[in-house]
Amino acid sequence: VKKIILDCDPGHDDAIAMLLAHGNPDIELLAVTTVVGNQTLEKVTRNALAVARVANITGVPFAAGATRPLIRQIEIADEIHGDSGLDGPVLPQPTLTLEPVHAIDLIIDLIMSHPPKTITLVPTGGLTNIALAVRKEPRIVERVKEVVLMGGGYHVGNWSAVAEFNIKIDPEAAHIVFNEKWPLTMVGLDLTHQALATAAVVERIAAIGTRPAKFVTELLDFFSLSYKDCQGFDYPPVHDPCAVAYVIDPNVMTVRKVPVDIELTGTLTLGMTVADFRAPPPPDCHTQVAVKLDHQRFWDLIVDALERIGEV
Ligand code: BDR
Ligand code: CA
Repeated sequence: VKKIILDCDPGHDDAIAMLLAHGNPDIELLAVTTVVGNQTLEKVTRNALAVARVANITGVPFAAGATRPLIRQIEIADEIHGDSGLDGPVLPQPTLTLEPVHAIDLIIDLIMSHPPKTITLVPTGGLTNIALAVRKEPRIVERVKEVVLMGGGYHVGNWSAVAEFNIKIDPEAAHIVFNEKWPLTMVGLDLTHQALATAAVVERIAAIGTRPAKFVTELLDFFSLSYKDCQGFDYPPVHDPCAVAYVIDPNVMTVRKVPVDIELTGTLTLGMTVADFRAPPPPDCHTQVAVKLDHQRFWDLIVDALERIGEV
């Protein structure tokens, strides 16, 4: 069983990442932490708790983290995720309550109290919490097993011509996280733009027939309209669960080792994840990027998780 901490900003695809992590038997979800991103911290945190109610996630600590990026002003993605951050389905009133601690302290305490190299960090939002945690307690770098994040793209951008949302909204935080020497897998847009929720995928999920599955189809309906309007996609790319899927089964995608750094000063390229493919990776290269998705295997994992969650 793989222990993960999901640091997220739900967010339609973050919500699906939560459901995958909860429903998959190979994952132990140690905590869900939230960070400003798709919407304000208050909204994404409420959304995370609402998703917990939808899937009856209990006994997992939830904690709220950073209310704003390290240096930049808040930038939300309401044209993609709506005014609530999770528009589409009716959101239930949360029943879980937040832990009375800051997300970064929950992250640090969990990592420091578990045996070394047993916890994978899975950030699916901006990297503010992770950057703050590593600055507060640098020893987490050698204690985590790895970081598997959704963000960036070595050839593709979505928040600018060359930068992806999660990196662009807090590039300084991303710079910190990418430059620490922990093993880091960047599941970026190059990969997640292959994770399209096609009509056949939505039909499969609808056929499950449970309330959590219906919740997902309602999320995907809204997400599909946003992606059509804003980015011209026929089907929406469901980014965040790709990172969780990689932790469950690395064979769900191919990866390539390559040094990656974050652009902090470019006027046109701020927040670009610059991957240097010119030479074979140096022996101490600690970063890799996701390249090719096995679409069938990926959606099988999502369907399987929803079937296991069942009717709640
Ligand atoms: C990322 O940005 C957010 O809007 C999504 O939740 C995902 O994490 C994709 O660029
Ligand atoms: Ca996200």
